[in-house]
Amino acid sequence: MASPAGPEPGPLASLRAHRLVPVVAIRDADAVLGLAEALVAGGLPLIEITLRTEAAPEALRRASTVKNLVVVAGTVTTPDHVKLAVDCGAKMIVSPGLNTRVVEYCLAHDLPVVPGVCTPTEIETARNLGLKTLKFFPAEAYGGVRTLKALGDVYKDFSFVPTGGVNLQNLGDYLKLPIVLACGGSWMVPADAINDRRFGDVEKLARDAVALVETLALA
Ligand code: 3PG
Repeated sequence: MASPAGPEPGPLASLRAHRLVPVVAIRDADAVLGLAEALVAGGLPLIEITLRTEAAPEALRRASTVKNLVVVAGTVTTPDHVKLAVDCGAKMIVSPGLNTRVVEYCLAHDLPVVPGVCTPTEIETARNLGLKTLKFFPAEAYGGVRTLKALGDVYKDFSFVPTGGVNLQNLGDYLKLPIVLACGGSWMVPADAINDRRFGDVEKLARDAVALVETLALA
């Protein structure tokens, strides 16, 4: 079983470095290479592809061929999903909730896993499983920065990835919290831009988010 005290695995190190996770529910796997290249060009070599669409497995496969791109599978809710995601090349697993079967399967296979939580009870269950990095989901619906700040006052030894309702306007408020590792969201990869193959728009959205992260780092 992976030790939470061991070295931070590659994908988590990438999250820490970039502090952003573009989350996409892709409908057409043919769009994924253009999308991935736009993210890389925008300074964000990371993508979470959610297992919510029929195209997701093929999109994971194709994204995994892009050099230096960290490919994460999202909306993973069963061990079978984990197996599928790994077979398709995913290097990290993200879940909407704290599913102990999913987490235990990932830990047994040395696979970084970031499950979703939004309550103290779930955070403590995650602690019992040996986890230290958790998704706070759905962030805005569960009280956003205010709730996360209150959780962070108690659970200082955890890192959180707020996702759900995060955008360029509230991103800075989340990232300023010391317990926030990174923020996830679809605002950088809007469905209409992907459908219309407006990858220049995606590159700009990624670039704007990266610029904000850099500004905060200098502040
Ligand atoms: C999701 O569930 O798709 C992610 O949490 C992204 O949420 P968002 O679309 O509110 O950014």
